[in-house]
Amino acid sequence: MILRLGDFHFPDSAARLYPSTPGRPWVLEVGFGDGRFWPQHAQTFSEAPNYLGAELSGVSLLKAANRLRAAGISNAHLSKLPATPLLREAVPPDSLSTIVVNFPDPWPKAEHEDHRLLSAAFFRLAASRLKPGGAVLLTTDHDEYFEFACREAQLSGVIRTERGAPPDAALHTKYALKWQNLGLSAQHARFVGTEQPEVPGGTLSHYPDQDLPDQISQENTVPHAVLESLPAEFEFQGFSRQAVRGPGQEPYTVVLLDAYRSVRRDEFTVLAHVVEGELTQEVLINVTRRPGGTVLVRLGKFGGPIITPGVKAAVGALTDWLVSQGGVVRHLGY
Ligand SMILES: C[S@@+](CC[C@H](N)C(=O)[O-])C[C@H]1O[C@@H](n2cnc3c(N)ncnc32)[C@H](O)[C@@H]1O
Repeated sequence: MILRLGDFHFPDSAARLYPSTPGRPWVLEVGFGDGRFWPQHAQTFSEAPNYLGAELSGVSLLKAANRLRAAGISNAHLSKLPATPLLREAVPPDSLSTIVVNFPDPWPKAEHEDHRLLSAAFFRLAASRLKPGGAVLLTTDHDEYFEFACREAQLSGVIRTERGAPPDAALHTKYALKWQNLGLSAQHARFVGTEQPEVPGGTLSHYPDQDLPDQISQENTVPHAVLESLPAEFEFQGFSRQAVRGPGQEPYTVVLLDAYRSVRRDEFTVLAHVVEGELTQEVLINVTRRPGGTVLVRLGKFGGPIITPGVKAAVGALTDWLVSQGGVVRHLGY
Protein backbone atom coordinates (compact mmCIF):
# COMPACT_ATOMS: atom_id res chain seq x y z
CA MET A 1 0.00 0.00 0.00
CA ILE A 2 1.21 3.54 -0.72
CA LEU A 3 1.37 5.67 2.42
CA ARG A 4 1.64 9.45 2.57
CA LEU A 5 3.53 11.09 5.39
CA GLY A 6 0.20 11.99 7.01
CA ASP A 7 -0.78 8.28 7.10
CA PHE A 8 2.04 7.51 9.55
CA HIS A 9 2.07 7.99 13.29
CA PHE A 10 5.11 9.61 14.92
CA PRO A 11 6.51 7.26 16.01
CA ASP A 12 4.63 4.43 14.38
CA SER A 13 4.76 0.70 15.14
CA ALA A 14 4.93 -2.59 13.27
CA ALA A 15 1.75 -3.67 15.07
CA ARG A 16 -0.19 -0.75 13.56
CA LEU A 17 1.39 -0.84 10.11
CA TYR A 18 1.30 -4.62 9.70
CA PRO A 19 -1.66 -5.79 11.80
CA SER A 20 -1.70 -9.28 10.23
CA THR A 21 2.03 -9.92 10.62
CA PRO A 22 3.21 -7.79 13.55
CA GLY A 23 5.85 -10.22 14.80
CA ARG A 24 7.82 -10.61 11.59
CA PRO A 25 11.18 -8.91 11.01
CA TRP A 26 10.83 -5.38 9.62
CA VAL A 27 12.91 -4.21 6.65
CA LEU A 28 13.30 -0.66 5.33
CA GLU A 29 14.54 -0.16 1.77
CA VAL A 30 15.83 3.30 0.91
CA GLY A 31 15.58 4.38 -2.74
CA PHE A 32 13.86 1.24 -4.04
CA GLY A 33 13.69 2.68 -7.60
CA ASP A 34 11.32 0.66 -9.76
CA GLY A 35 10.99 -1.92 -6.99
CA ARG A 36 12.69 -5.01 -8.38
CA PHE A 37 14.64 -5.91 -5.24
CA TRP A 38 11.95 -6.76 -2.73
CA PRO A 39 9.66 -9.12 -4.71
CA GLN A 40 12.73 -11.25 -5.49
CA HIS A 41 14.48 -10.98 -2.13
CA ALA A 42 11.30 -11.64 -0.13
CA GLN A 43 11.17 -15.11 -1.70
CA THR A 44 14.36 -16.10 0.13
CA PHE A 45 12.40 -16.08 3.43
CA SER A 46 9.87 -18.72 4.44
CA GLU A 47 7.63 -15.83 5.56
CA ALA A 48 8.12 -12.45 3.87
CA PRO A 49 9.33 -9.88 6.43
CA ASN A 50 7.33 -6.69 6.83
CA TYR A 51 8.60 -4.15 4.31
CA LEU A 52 8.70 -0.37 4.22
CA GLY A 53 10.08 1.40 1.16
CA ALA A 54 11.08 5.06 0.85
CA GLU A 55 11.65 6.59 -2.58
CA LEU A 56 11.69 10.15 -3.89
CA SER A 57 10.50 9.45 -7.44
CA GLY A 58 6.74 9.23 -8.00
CA VAL A 59 7.08 7.31 -11.27
CA SER A 60 9.25 4.71 -9.54
CA LEU A 61 6.75 4.49 -6.71
CA LEU A 62 3.93 3.46 -9.06
CA LYS A 63 6.11 0.92 -10.86
CA ALA A 64 7.18 -0.60 -7.55
CA ALA A 65 3.60 -0.71 -6.25
CA ASN A 66 2.58 -2.65 -9.38
CA ARG A 67 5.41 -5.12 -8.86
CA LEU A 68 4.46 -5.75 -5.23
CA ARG A 69 0.83 -6.25 -6.22
CA ALA A 70 1.80 -8.66 -9.03
CA ALA A 71 3.98 -10.61 -6.56
CA GLY A 72 1.06 -10.85 -4.12
CA ILE A 73 3.02 -9.24 -1.28
CA SER A 74 0.57 -7.64 1.13
CA ASN A 75 2.71 -6.80 4.19
CA ALA A 76 4.55 -4.01 2.37
CA HIS A 77 4.18 -0.23 2.39
CA LEU A 78 5.72 2.23 -0.04
CA SER A 79 6.07 5.94 0.51
CA LYS A 80 7.21 8.82 -1.68
CA LEU A 81 9.27 10.32 1.09
CA PRO A 82 12.88 11.09 1.89
CA ALA A 83 14.24 8.24 3.97
CA THR A 84 15.88 10.20 6.78
CA PRO A 85 12.86 12.01 8.24
CA LEU A 86 10.74 8.88 7.73
CA LEU A 87 13.27 6.78 9.62
CA ARG A 88 13.74 9.36 12.36
CA GLU A 89 10.09 10.23 12.93
CA ALA A 90 8.00 7.17 12.02
CA VAL A 91 10.27 4.22 12.81
CA PRO A 92 10.63 3.64 16.55
CA PRO A 93 13.98 2.79 18.18
CA ASP A 94 15.02 -0.86 18.25
CA SER A 95 12.59 -2.05 15.59
CA LEU A 96 14.15 -2.79 12.18
CA SER A 97 16.04 -5.95 11.29
CA THR A 98 17.55 -4.51 8.11
CA ILE A 99 17.92 -1.30 6.16
CA VAL A 100 18.63 -1.97 2.48
CA VAL A 101 20.35 0.56 0.24
CA ASN A 102 20.98 -0.61 -3.33
CA PHE A 103 22.94 1.63 -5.68
CA PRO A 104 22.41 4.93 -3.84
CA ASP A 105 22.91 8.14 -5.79
CA PRO A 106 26.71 8.60 -5.59
CA TRP A 107 26.91 12.42 -5.70
CA PRO A 108 30.44 12.18 -7.13
CA LYS A 109 31.38 15.90 -7.00
CA ALA A 110 33.25 16.92 -3.84
CA GLU A 111 30.94 19.89 -3.28
CA HIS A 112 27.92 17.55 -3.29
CA GLU A 113 29.27 15.14 -0.67
CA ASP A 114 26.74 16.52 1.82
CA HIS A 115 23.94 14.98 -0.25
CA ARG A 116 25.21 11.44 0.25
CA LEU A 117 22.84 9.31 2.27
CA LEU A 118 25.28 7.10 4.17
CA SER A 119 26.87 9.72 6.40
CA ALA A 120 27.99 9.13 9.99
CA ALA A 121 24.81 10.92 11.14
CA PHE A 122 22.67 8.55 9.08
CA PHE A 123 24.51 5.53 10.52
CA ARG A 124 23.86 6.76 14.07
CA LEU A 125 20.17 7.21 13.26
CA ALA A 126 20.07 3.80 11.58
CA ALA A 127 21.78 2.11 14.54
CA SER A 128 19.25 3.65 16.91
CA ARG A 129 16.35 2.21 14.88
CA LEU A 130 17.89 -1.26 14.30
CA LYS A 131 17.33 -4.19 16.61
CA PRO A 132 20.48 -5.69 18.18
CA GLY A 133 22.37 -7.46 15.39
CA GLY A 134 20.45 -5.56 12.72
CA ALA A 135 22.34 -4.12 9.77
CA VAL A 136 22.38 -1.62 6.93
CA LEU A 137 23.06 -3.50 3.69
CA LEU A 138 24.82 -1.46 1.02
CA THR A 139 25.36 -2.63 -2.53
CA THR A 140 26.96 -0.18 -4.97
CA ASP A 141 29.00 -0.08 -8.15
CA HIS A 142 30.63 3.17 -7.04
CA ASP A 143 33.98 2.39 -5.38
CA GLU A 144 34.53 5.87 -4.02
CA TYR A 145 31.07 6.00 -2.46
CA PHE A 146 31.63 2.54 -1.01
CA GLU A 147 34.85 3.64 0.71
CA PHE A 148 33.14 6.85 1.85
CA ALA A 149 30.32 4.82 3.44
CA CYS A 150 32.81 2.51 5.21
CA ARG A 151 34.68 5.54 6.59
CA GLU A 152 31.48 7.23 7.74
CA ALA A 153 30.28 4.00 9.37
CA GLN A 154 33.47 3.85 11.39
CA LEU A 155 33.22 7.55 12.25
CA SER A 156 29.71 7.00 13.60
CA GLY A 157 31.24 4.92 16.39
CA VAL A 158 28.22 2.57 16.50
CA ILE A 159 28.74 0.38 13.43
CA ARG A 160 30.91 -2.65 12.58
CA THR A 161 31.59 -3.14 8.85
CA GLU A 162 31.53 -6.59 7.27
CA ARG A 163 32.43 -6.69 3.58
CA GLY A 164 31.01 -9.60 1.58
CA ALA A 165 28.80 -10.77 -1.26
CA PRO A 166 25.51 -8.96 -1.93
CA PRO A 167 22.15 -10.68 -1.77
CA ASP A 168 21.38 -12.10 -5.21
CA ALA A 169 18.36 -9.84 -5.69
CA ALA A 170 20.57 -6.75 -5.28
CA LEU A 171 22.36 -7.81 -8.48
CA HIS A 172 19.08 -7.76 -10.42
CA THR A 173 17.81 -4.24 -9.75
CA LYS A 174 17.46 -1.76 -12.60
CA TYR A 175 20.71 -0.01 -11.67
CA ALA A 176 22.58 -3.24 -11.01
CA LEU A 177 21.80 -4.39 -14.54
CA LYS A 178 22.66 -0.97 -15.95
CA TRP A 179 26.14 -1.05 -14.40
CA GLN A 180 26.71 -4.71 -15.26
CA ASN A 181 25.99 -3.87 -18.90
CA LEU A 182 28.76 -1.27 -18.68
CA GLY A 183 31.14 -3.91 -17.31
CA LEU A 184 31.14 -2.57 -13.73
CA SER A 185 30.90 -4.82 -10.69
CA ALA A 186 29.23 -4.22 -7.36
CA GLN A 187 30.66 -3.99 -3.84
CA HIS A 188 28.71 -4.96 -0.77
CA ALA A 189 28.93 -4.32 2.97
CA ARG A 190 26.81 -5.18 6.00
CA PHE A 191 27.00 -2.33 8.48
CA VAL A 192 26.04 -4.00 11.74
CA GLY A 193 24.86 -1.89 14.64
CA THR A 194 27.09 -2.38 17.69
CA GLU A 195 25.36 0.15 19.92
CA GLN A 196 21.94 1.79 19.96
CA PRO A 197 22.61 5.47 20.48
CA GLU A 198 19.78 7.73 21.53
CA VAL A 199 18.71 9.64 18.45
CA PRO A 200 15.48 11.43 19.17
CA GLY A 201 12.63 11.91 16.72
CA GLY A 202 9.51 13.73 17.71
CA THR A 203 9.51 16.95 15.68
CA LEU A 204 6.47 15.80 13.69
CA SER A 205 2.96 15.37 15.00
CA HIS A 206 -0.44 14.48 13.66
CA TYR A 207 -3.19 16.71 12.46
CA PRO A 208 -5.94 15.50 14.81
CA ASP A 209 -9.04 14.15 13.12
CA GLN A 210 -11.55 16.12 15.13
CA ASP A 211 -13.17 19.10 13.43
CA LEU A 212 -12.86 22.74 14.30
CA PRO A 213 -13.88 23.23 17.92
CA ASP A 214 -15.80 26.37 18.86
CA GLN A 215 -13.43 27.32 21.60
CA ILE A 216 -9.79 26.67 21.01
CA SER A 217 -8.22 25.39 24.20
CA GLN A 218 -4.58 25.32 25.25
CA GLU A 219 -4.48 21.56 24.71
CA ASN A 220 -5.44 21.79 21.06
CA THR A 221 -2.34 20.79 19.12
CA VAL A 222 -3.28 22.25 15.73
CA PRO A 223 -1.24 25.45 15.41
CA HIS A 224 -3.58 28.42 15.69
CA ALA A 225 -4.04 31.92 17.04
CA VAL A 226 -7.10 33.83 18.12
CA LEU A 227 -7.22 37.55 17.41
CA GLU A 228 -9.40 39.82 19.51
CA SER A 229 -10.10 41.85 16.41
CA LEU A 230 -8.86 42.53 12.90
CA PRO A 231 -9.63 45.56 10.73
CA ALA A 232 -12.40 44.83 8.20
CA GLU A 233 -10.18 45.62 5.23
CA PHE A 234 -6.47 45.66 4.67
CA GLU A 235 -4.09 45.53 1.75
CA PHE A 236 -2.42 42.29 0.83
CA GLN A 237 0.46 44.20 -0.67
CA GLY A 238 3.67 43.54 1.18
CA PHE A 239 2.35 40.17 2.22
CA SER A 240 3.51 37.84 -0.52
CA ARG A 241 6.84 36.06 -0.32
CA GLN A 242 7.61 36.93 3.26
CA ALA A 243 10.42 34.61 4.27
CA VAL A 244 11.06 33.57 7.85
CA ARG A 245 14.14 31.57 8.81
CA GLY A 246 14.14 29.40 11.88
CA PRO A 247 16.96 29.15 14.39
CA GLY A 248 18.89 26.12 15.59
CA GLN A 249 20.38 23.06 14.01
CA GLU A 250 17.38 22.20 11.83
CA PRO A 251 16.54 25.59 10.39
CA TYR A 252 13.32 26.00 8.49
CA THR A 253 12.26 28.43 5.84
CA VAL A 254 8.70 29.70 5.63
CA VAL A 255 7.38 31.70 2.70
CA LEU A 256 3.84 33.04 2.73
CA LEU A 257 3.05 32.72 -0.96
CA ASP A 258 -0.47 33.95 -1.61
CA ALA A 259 -3.95 34.46 -0.16
CA TYR A 260 -7.38 33.39 -1.47
CA ARG A 261 -10.78 34.72 -0.38
CA SER A 262 -13.64 32.30 0.29
CA VAL A 263 -16.86 32.87 -1.67
CA ARG A 264 -18.91 31.12 1.02
CA ARG A 265 -17.94 32.77 4.26
CA ASP A 266 -15.95 35.53 5.82
CA GLU A 267 -12.68 33.73 5.52
CA PHE A 268 -9.47 33.77 3.56
CA THR A 269 -6.82 31.14 3.15
CA VAL A 270 -3.10 31.65 2.92
CA LEU A 271 -0.79 29.29 1.04
CA ALA A 272 2.55 28.84 2.79
CA HIS A 273 5.67 27.03 1.63
CA VAL A 274 7.65 25.39 4.45
CA VAL A 275 11.09 23.81 4.02
CA GLU A 276 12.78 21.91 6.86
CA GLY A 277 15.82 19.87 5.94
CA GLU A 278 14.63 17.26 3.47
CA LEU A 279 10.96 17.90 4.12
CA THR A 280 8.98 20.40 2.06
CA GLN A 281 5.30 21.08 2.64
CA GLU A 282 2.79 23.47 1.10
CA VAL A 283 0.20 24.20 3.76
CA LEU A 284 -2.99 26.22 3.95
CA ILE A 285 -3.77 28.50 6.88
CA ASN A 286 -7.35 29.68 7.29
CA VAL A 287 -8.24 33.07 8.71
CA THR A 288 -11.91 33.00 9.78
CA ARG A 289 -13.96 35.84 11.28
CA ARG A 290 -16.21 34.41 13.97
CA PRO A 291 -19.46 35.69 15.45
CA GLY A 292 -18.53 38.16 18.17
CA GLY A 293 -15.70 39.66 16.14
CA THR A 294 -12.81 37.39 17.05
CA VAL A 295 -10.67 35.93 14.29
CA LEU A 296 -9.31 32.39 14.19
CA VAL A 297 -6.01 31.79 12.39
CA ARG A 298 -5.56 28.06 12.07
CA LEU A 299 -3.65 25.52 10.02
CA GLY A 300 -6.00 23.99 7.42
CA LYS A 301 -6.64 20.27 7.29
CA PHE A 302 -6.52 20.08 3.50
CA GLY A 303 -3.65 17.93 2.20
CA GLY A 304 -3.00 16.27 5.56
CA PRO A 305 -0.23 18.59 6.74
CA ILE A 306 2.28 17.33 9.24
CA ILE A 307 2.73 19.66 12.15
CA THR A 308 6.39 20.58 12.38
CA PRO A 309 8.24 23.50 13.96
CA GLY A 310 8.28 25.12 10.50
CA VAL A 311 4.52 24.70 10.05
CA LYS A 312 3.96 26.27 13.48
CA ALA A 313 6.27 29.10 12.41
CA ALA A 314 4.16 29.59 9.26
CA VAL A 315 1.06 30.13 11.44
CA GLY A 316 3.18 32.46 13.58
CA ALA A 317 4.44 34.39 10.54
CA LEU A 318 0.90 34.92 9.28
CA THR A 319 -0.28 35.95 12.74
CA ASP A 320 2.58 38.46 12.98
CA TRP A 321 1.63 39.86 9.61
CA LEU A 322 -2.03 40.21 10.69
CA VAL A 323 -0.86 42.00 13.82
CA SER A 324 1.16 44.36 11.61
CA GLN A 325 -2.14 45.09 9.82
CA GLY A 326 -3.88 46.08 13.05
CA GLY A 327 -4.89 42.66 14.46
CA VAL A 328 -4.89 42.29 18.26
CA VAL A 329 -3.81 38.96 19.73
CA ARG A 330 -5.99 37.21 22.33
CA HIS A 331 -4.31 33.83 22.35
CA LEU A 332 -1.39 32.12 20.59
CA GLY A 333 -1.43 28.35 20.16
CA TYR A 334 1.63 27.41 18.15
C1 LIG B 1 20.54 5.16 -8.45
S1 LIG B 1 18.87 4.90 -7.99
C2 LIG B 1 18.84 3.21 -7.50
C3 LIG B 1 17.44 2.63 -7.52
C4 LIG B 1 17.33 1.15 -7.12
N1 LIG B 1 17.76 0.92 -5.77
C5 LIG B 1 18.07 0.29 -8.07
O1 LIG B 1 19.08 -0.33 -7.64
O2 LIG B 1 17.67 0.20 -9.24
C6 LIG B 1 18.79 5.73 -6.42
C7 LIG B 1 17.36 5.96 -5.98
O3 LIG B 1 17.37 6.48 -4.67
C8 LIG B 1 16.32 7.44 -4.58
N2 LIG B 1 16.68 8.33 -3.46
C9 LIG B 1 17.70 9.20 -3.40
N3 LIG B 1 17.76 9.80 -2.21
C10 LIG B 1 16.73 9.28 -1.47
C11 LIG B 1 16.25 9.52 -0.17
N4 LIG B 1 16.83 10.41 0.64
N5 LIG B 1 15.18 8.83 0.24
C12 LIG B 1 14.56 7.94 -0.56
N6 LIG B 1 14.98 7.68 -1.83
C13 LIG B 1 16.05 8.34 -2.28
C14 LIG B 1 16.30 8.11 -5.93
O4 LIG B 1 15.06 8.70 -6.22
C15 LIG B 1 16.60 6.94 -6.86
O5 LIG B 1 15.42 6.31 -7.32
